[in-house]
Amino acid sequence: MTGVKAPPRTDGLPPTAGLRALWTLRYGTAGLYEALEVARAGLGEVFELGFGGFRPVVVASPRALRQALFERRELFSWRPEGDPAVRLFRRSILVTDGEEHDRARAVMAPAFEPERLRQAAAVVVEVIEEELEGWPTEGRVEAVEAMRRVAWRAFERVFFGYDLRGAELERSLPGLLAALRYIGPGPWVLRGRAGRVPRRVRLLEAHVRHVVAWRREHPGEPATMLDLLLGTFDLERVRDHALTMLIAGHDTSTAQLSWALHLLARSPEWLARASREARRAPAGEGLASLGAHDLPVIDAVLKETLRLWPPIHVGGRRALRETELDGYVVRGGQRVMLSYFLAQRDAARWAAPRAFDPGRWLEGGGPPGAYTYLPFGGGPRNCIGAAFANLEARLVLARVLQRFDLAVTRRPLRGAMGATLEPRGGLLKVRRR
Ligand code: HEM
Repeated sequence: MTGVKAPPRTDGLPPTAGLRALWTLRYGTAGLYEALEVARAGLGEVFELGFGGFRPVVVASPRALRQALFERRELFSWRPEGDPAVRLFRRSILVTDGEEHDRARAVMAPAFEPERLRQAAAVVVEVIEEELEGWPTEGRVEAVEAMRRVAWRAFERVFFGYDLRGAELERSLPGLLAALRYIGPGPWVLRGRAGRVPRRVRLLEAHVRHVVAWRREHPGEPATMLDLLLGTFDLERVRDHALTMLIAGHDTSTAQLSWALHLLARSPEWLARASREARRAPAGEGLASLGAHDLPVIDAVLKETLRLWPPIHVGGRRALRETELDGYVVRGGQRVMLSYFLAQRDAARWAAPRAFDPGRWLEGGGPPGAYTYLPFGGGPRNCIGAAFANLEARLVLARVLQRFDLAVTRRPLRGAMGATLEPRGGLLKVRRR
């Protein structure tokens, strides 16, 4: 290839930047996202990371992102083999390419149609209502734990037609948490191959198999995603897709909602504005029928949350053969990290990129260009659940603010890279209104 350069490498960073990058790893790989910011400041929007044998190209420029997600997407596979997600999800929508992937996506698409989402809204409101009954009148709430229950239960009610609760939820939770730890970054990244799926994950698999068996006996109308899967695939493939969707469809929303609560609790002005808006809105069915334009401040808070802390902060790919992204060579077989996180915090394009400022989304405000804001990815393999996720987040946040006053404790809060980029450390203070 002519006129194409090798990307700059992190081992070429000046020693001070190298030390700053190392300091960001004081919490282990959970802080790796900060190291990426240091590297970008020193090397630009396309660079190669160097950690032993782990040498992915990180891309954050709109041009490179457009090429990888759209124009040249056929040159990249979605999941490098050796990735734990491949071992856990086997042959699901998230880890296959080509026709196999496209068929699965087409089978599940009807579950996300607007009419289905209208029905889903009422279910989400019921679930959040039930969950908030369990919150203290005045006390502390661990946001990630609380939001995980809401998002997991809402996902299963809407997409599996299953009412997960009580002892069954408690029994399956350790399996779910083990699965999330397993697919998150860890030493396997350096080795290039994940170890075996931990035994504890069987608690989650058993739950999924139980729900699948139950739904076969109790098919419902209209067909849920699970009915669509059961009508098309054999039971092993249904297991793969159902497990994948359960994780992709709730862990992301868990992260977004818990960040939104923490960020609001730390921002008195936006907390007051969002609470006022929520408290003017109806509850119950009336709330379920509201769209994003009816709750513009809450919508802006959620968009800004996704900008600052995108739950899926990076799209992992592998180049199938040598190619070029934004003028830089990518070797055949090389891992590529599409950094949505860096793109959304780029000081050359976003004003005050590290500030939580929902105002940038109000009064016609939006992203500073195409492929600069990608919380749901981009191109034909963007997030299939984005519309549901937006609806769910809006209703949950509005209902929490209708029923509770929020404040923060002094415990420090930071981001941690697990299966998603989620808030860790901080506790929320809540008081029932
Ligand atoms: C705030 C919530 C969510 C966020 C931030 C999010 C983010 C994303 C992103 C960034 C991608 C593309 C990843 C890449 O480029 O590698 C993606 C894909 C995907 N998401 Fe979501 N997601 C959310 C909610 C959901 C929900 C609710 C569902 C299902 C109910 C879902 C199912 C999926 C699936 C199946 C894919 C893969 C699509 C394909 O390969 O064709 N997501 N999501």
